[in-house]
Amino acid sequence: MNYTLIDGKSFAEKLVMKVANAVNVLNTKHHIKPGLAVVLVGQNPASEVYVKNKVRQTKNSGMNSVEHRLPDTTSESDLLSLVNKLNEDDEIDGILVQLPLPDHINENSIINAIKPSKDVDGFSIPNVGLLSTSVSGLIPCTPLGCLLLLKSYVGELSGKSAVIIGRSNIVGKPMAQLLLNENCTVTIAHSKTKNIEAVCKGADILVAAVGRPNFVKSEWVKKGAVVIDVGINRLPPEGDIKGRLVGDVDFNSVSNVASAITPVPGGVGPMTIACLLRNTVTAACKRRNFNEPEM
Ligand code: GUN
Repeated sequence: MNYTLIDGKSFAEKLVMKVANAVNVLNTKHHIKPGLAVVLVGQNPASEVYVKNKVRQTKNSGMNSVEHRLPDTTSESDLLSLVNKLNEDDEIDGILVQLPLPDHINENSIINAIKPSKDVDGFSIPNVGLLSTSVSGLIPCTPLGCLLLLKSYVGELSGKSAVIIGRSNIVGKPMAQLLLNENCTVTIAHSKTKNIEAVCKGADILVAAVGRPNFVKSEWVKKGAVVIDVGINRLPPEGDIKGRLVGDVDFNSVSNVASAITPVPGGVGPMTIACLLRNTVTAACKRRNFNEPEM
């Protein structure tokens, strides 16, 4: 079967350009430069890479980027103090605390200390509640990126059967809610799901977010399904060669049955950062009761 490669990289580049335009308008019309604060605790190598990219792209889009790097010995109360300071800082429109946090810090306490209006990750309980009652709030970046790709490549989503593999608060659950809001018939599959192959085979839209390399095989996928691969997994190194990045979907086999599929890298990954920038502009506008620009 001929498949369409869902080019997240190029879609994200266009989105970042729209965000940069919106930033420019805010700047020239209202003398506002939206600001994003990113907080990294400890030295998780993957988090370091993500944070570096977030900071670089924030600056490139014309926004202020404020970076806080704290040692992994930072106490929960010190991190809470920093979040409270950023909550009250008028120059800051968005706050992102990179996860995972060290074990001695309660992630939920930190996430819910962020002012909902500045919670550009959309992880705090008020934003989760708004999403599940179909009211506009700040939407988690990775599922928002997947939805924008689906709307662009599939068009009308209403009535489609969607299966999401993975039930995380960051991707699986908000993705399910977003697709439900689009009138899809939604199933969440997870590690305890019985006969996961058959469940997945019913999907018109299959979203894989489990963090297991090449987990989804072609036999699990309906002919003509649209497949979104959220996984970014590094395979073990072979000799001197650094391990390759692969998704949760076995691309080589699944691309024979899918009608459209995201690659890894170059699929969902770039959309996450683009949506973070978009959320920061959204937060900057909402906080001031400005109309949100087209992005
Ligand atoms: N760690 C992995 N993904 C994310 C994300 O989207 N936001 C934050 N804050 N941490 C993450």
